[in-house]
Amino acid sequence: MKGSRQFCWSVVKRTLYVSPKTQVDTSTVPSSRDTSVLVSPPQSDEAALYVHWPYCLRRCSYCNFNKYIPRSVSHSAMRECLQKETETLLNLSQVFRITSVFFGGGTPSLAQPATIAAVLETISQHAQLSKGAEVTLEVNPTPAGMSKLKDFVQAGINRLSIGVQSLNDEDLTVLGRDHSSQHALHTISEARRLCPGRVSVDVMFGRPGQSVASWEKELEELLCVCDDHVSLYQLTLERGTQLFKQVERGELTVPGEDITAAMYRSAREVLEKRGYRQYEVSNFARGGAVSEHNLGYWRAQQYIGVGPGAHGRFVPLSAGADQREARTQTLEPDVWMSEVQKSGHATRRRLPLNRLELLEEVLVMGLRMVDGITHQHWEMFSPSDDLHAFFGQPGDVQELQQRGLLILDDRGLRCSWEGLALLDSMLPTLLVQLETHVLRKGQQRNQICPPSQHREGRQAR
Ligand SMILES: C[S@@+](CC[C@H](N)C(=O)[O-])C[C@H]1O[C@@H](n2cnc3c(N)ncnc32)[C@H](O)[C@@H]1O
Ligand code: SF4
Repeated sequence: MKGSRQFCWSVVKRTLYVSPKTQVDTSTVPSSRDTSVLVSPPQSDEAALYVHWPYCLRRCSYCNFNKYIPRSVSHSAMRECLQKETETLLNLSQVFRITSVFFGGGTPSLAQPATIAAVLETISQHAQLSKGAEVTLEVNPTPAGMSKLKDFVQAGINRLSIGVQSLNDEDLTVLGRDHSSQHALHTISEARRLCPGRVSVDVMFGRPGQSVASWEKELEELLCVCDDHVSLYQLTLERGTQLFKQVERGELTVPGEDITAAMYRSAREVLEKRGYRQYEVSNFARGGAVSEHNLGYWRAQQYIGVGPGAHGRFVPLSAGADQREARTQTLEPDVWMSEVQKSGHATRRRLPLNRLELLEEVLVMGLRMVDGITHQHWEMFSPSDDLHAFFGQPGDVQELQQRGLLILDDRGLRCSWEGLALLDSMLPTLLVQLETHVLRKGQQRNQICPPSQHREGRQAR
């Protein structure tokens, strides 16, 4: 395991992933990387929908998410703006059906249940919200959050994801959390009563002063009370956060890479032993209680992002039939709100994804899943060249296969058990091979017909 971003927790939940390579702003001229034909992403008539609630009661010492601690919140204005932006983006997209909804944050359990109900109602008015679609709410396990759970369920929430982080009260204080372990246990129990089988807990390891033994004990304790889904977060020291400064000044120490690698290994073993099947780098489920919404991200399906700083990936109507865009909404809530009031949405940035960028996402996200990328899945995004053509050739990727970290076979491409823990360190090698192949094919094609023909369909913006 290399680096503290091994688990890319931001990718897992926040949909913050952007291609690690050059980003092309919508105003820029297509670069030499755009040599390839645009591909039509599959199923552009359906998408998941993410809603970002940007407010928190206080700042956790480790967190650099897009969140704000306001003096007061205008719930009615937020509600109207979230509804308006949902409506606008649904109309702008070619999406007909919403497959899942995720209310994340910030602390969306601070929102009024009526806001959740209103957004769901807007979705139903402008698209088909699949019957029984997973609708998740992130919950901070404070007494205030817990008292509203019933109302959230009545509003349409059918899955709860609880930010437990730790069952150790001293650690919760160091992390700046506004709840205790007792609050967490009560919230889990109430959530399980309301949404049996559909409760997830977030737990964090690599915390200051933590040892492998204390982590194993804590995880065992948590597994005695939790439901069928667990998300593991490795603590990332984010520059600019209070925790980062405390560690830099030597006031706190965090476990080194060897220790966090051992923590991850032991957590995987403990969870598997207790019946939780790992299905993604950081996610484990019992009895098939996987997160459908997050699986959508890892399968590179379309999603619409609503709310301050939300990210989306979808084919807008204006782009014709086949151009998926990476979209980001304005970060700051007040600015976001005034833009939504003025224009109906606050999309700050649109990046049309070319074939290479789309395949990079399919690869990076797909390899996070234990099942990896199947041949059928890859073919949806790359009908002409299969996984063997990209990754079966002699070279560095083949060496990863020979070392037993990566598997390419009849099922597709995936990490081995050991490889999954080293995914971050393998990605540069895989991405280079992907890019080399795409560029080589682009050049071959350019020799047959002039590049201008390949850009047919790319819309000027
Ligand atoms: C951003 S929070 C939003 C949900 C909720 N506010 C909470 O804190 O539980 C989603 C998850 O990201 C985790 N997270 C935030 N910053 C992190 C960091 N620096 N390292 C690891 N996990 C982090 C949180 O602890 C939480 O489990
Ligand atoms: S409650 Fe969640 S989003 Fe808010 S500061 Fe803490 S970790 Fe970040």
